[in-house]
Amino acid sequence: MKVKSVSISEWLEKADDFLEKRQVPETRANAEFLLAEVLGVGRSQMVLSGDRELSWKQGSHFWEMVKARGKRLPLAYVIGYQPFCGLDVKVTPSVLVPRPETEGLVEEAVKVAESKYPLSANLHILDVGTGSGCIALALAKKLSKAMLYATDLSDSALKLAEENAVKLGLIQRIRFLREDLFKPSAGGAPWADIVVSNPPYIPTGEIDNLSPEVHQEPFMALDGGESGMEAIKAIAADAPRVLKPGGYLLMEFMMGQGVEVKRQLDHLGFSEIRLEKDLQGVERIVVARR
Ligand SMILES: C[S@@+](CC[C@H](N)C(=O)[O-])C[C@H]1O[C@@H](n2cnc3c(N)ncnc32)[C@H](O)[C@@H]1O
Repeated sequence: MKVKSVSISEWLEKADDFLEKRQVPETRANAEFLLAEVLGVGRSQMVLSGDRELSWKQGSHFWEMVKARGKRLPLAYVIGYQPFCGLDVKVTPSVLVPRPETEGLVEEAVKVAESKYPLSANLHILDVGTGSGCIALALAKKLSKAMLYATDLSDSALKLAEENAVKLGLIQRIRFLREDLFKPSAGGAPWADIVVSNPPYIPTGEIDNLSPEVHQEPFMALDGGESGMEAIKAIAADAPRVLKPGGYLLMEFMMGQGVEVKRQLDHLGFSEIRLEKDLQGVERIVVARR
């Protein structure tokens, strides 16, 4: 018996339909990303070759991924990586999927580094709550003279972040450390020029209302306590322990937290406090000077 061959267009239609029944957002784009991944080509190139047929192996690989996405596993976990600041960062369910607004945080940190420390040959930057390592990796890539220190409490996140640093050839300039931001280990004199963090900032009571995809990300990467501000407050209060006088603290926060974040930093004696907006025009980043 001759098995009917199935073209790329037909596979896409089938996947689109399957994902729609499971209420996955942007079904067609998801199906196209997954198929492009199987074929190892760009999305537009894949769409242009709609008449081509998939091999049996390609078809079954594609369908395994479609089924995983149908279970509302984030697309980045299904394909295994997330593009971030021009780097392909490996991700697994043990780390948060890096978000586009965090690219804005990296851009701000680069601006601070380049404008405030133009001559510094050995800038020391600390990334608190590194997760996949995306922020530290992007800063190490963009600031070729900087030395990065990246902390997290999750062993599996630190292991993955280190793997990313090795794969991207940045391990020589990033040191990964296990540290609880609520129980910082005692240190000597402040040593960091810049502290940057995308901390967990979602109020505990709001996590249940988020999409099924977000529920597959680590709770510890999301949960900012009752007010959403616990990690932000802890980092701001602890920053002077590591941040040199005159150094800069940059943090990402959730929509609507800006006023409170600014008030906290003001209260702690930070100066030059400014809030920066994301691409949607929403305040999401704070920059402050110790
Ligand atoms: C919002 S995620 C950010 C991850 C990554 N920096 C990014 O931007 O995608 C927050 C990170 O903080 C870490 N974290 C949560 N609580 C922590 C704690 N008490 N001490 C240290 N890290 C913590 C989580 O494991 C998670 O990796």
